[in-house]
Amino acid sequence: MPISPSDFDYISQVVRKDSAIVLEKGKEYLVESRIMPLIHTEGWGSIEQLVHKMKTETARDLRDRVVEAMTTNETSFFRDIHPFELLKSTLIPEMIQKRQATRELNIWCGASSSGQEPFSLAMLIRENFPQLLNWKMFFMASDISRNMQKRCQAGFYSQLEINRGLPAPLLVKYFARTGMEWQIKEDVRKMIDFRLLNLCEKWPYMPSVDIIMMRNVLIYFDIETKKSILKKIRDILKPDGYLFLGAAETTLNLDDKFERMNFKQSGCYRLRQE
Ligand SMILES: C[S@@+](CC[C@H](N)C(=O)[O-])C[C@H]1O[C@@H](n2cnc3c(N)ncnc32)[C@H](O)[C@@H]1O
Repeated sequence: MPISPSDFDYISQVVRKDSAIVLEKGKEYLVESRIMPLIHTEGWGSIEQLVHKMKTETARDLRDRVVEAMTTNETSFFRDIHPFELLKSTLIPEMIQKRQATRELNIWCGASSSGQEPFSLAMLIRENFPQLLNWKMFFMASDISRNMQKRCQAGFYSQLEINRGLPAPLLVKYFARTGMEWQIKEDVRKMIDFRLLNLCEKWPYMPSVDIIMMRNVLIYFDIETKKSILKKIRDILKPDGYLFLGAAETTLNLDDKFERMNFKQSGCYRLRQE
């Protein structure tokens, strides 16, 4: 049975309140396609029964699982390649020069999904800047989804996921085959602290950051949420740090304190130098 308008309104309000993800009218098919598999596996009956349970249950677990099901976790290794090329050719060498005195580098992937983005960056560092492994590195990767956090911590990937963007030499060097899957090796996993973090809630303390990857997540939010996240990013980004957004995202008309770097379609921004 298709989702009723009132059940759709209720679910979209919960999702918006808890994650800032906007589900506009017309996205009923999306809610149905994401929620129905859960209804079947969990034996929740129907969407109507699920909504009734959500309204009457005080425990947050059910609500969290519905919100989590509505996140889009699409990602791939070295996605859009240009950000990684810019980091390799210019930005990380520049950081290494500038941070010689402290030998500290801080990186944050703010919507890390199943981990391909932070692991791509970790492999890029190991391949090209091994000296950084002796630096004090704060490398955090976070997501709102507990399932994604667990996946990142475990580091298992299917052949299909491996085929999307991972060069063969890196597969051979950094992954071990276990059954039908590939697991990224422990030394790479250990470089990154995987946390749960909801971007629309108060952020925990973190040291000021040199490189922030916040790619392909702002697109799901309304303008006010985008503005408030960009403002919070300004508060933690080092004055000479860099922010990466997804190819369909921009700071334009949202926050004029950022300026876009002119490097292909890298989606790289820095704080406007006054
Ligand atoms: C499309 S993926 C992007 C993954 C990666 N950054 C990339 O570009 O390949 C979007 C991720 O944002 C996460 N997300 C959605 N809303 C969020 C929120 N309010 N706080 C933190 N993460 C959120 C989702 O769980 C999902 O894993």
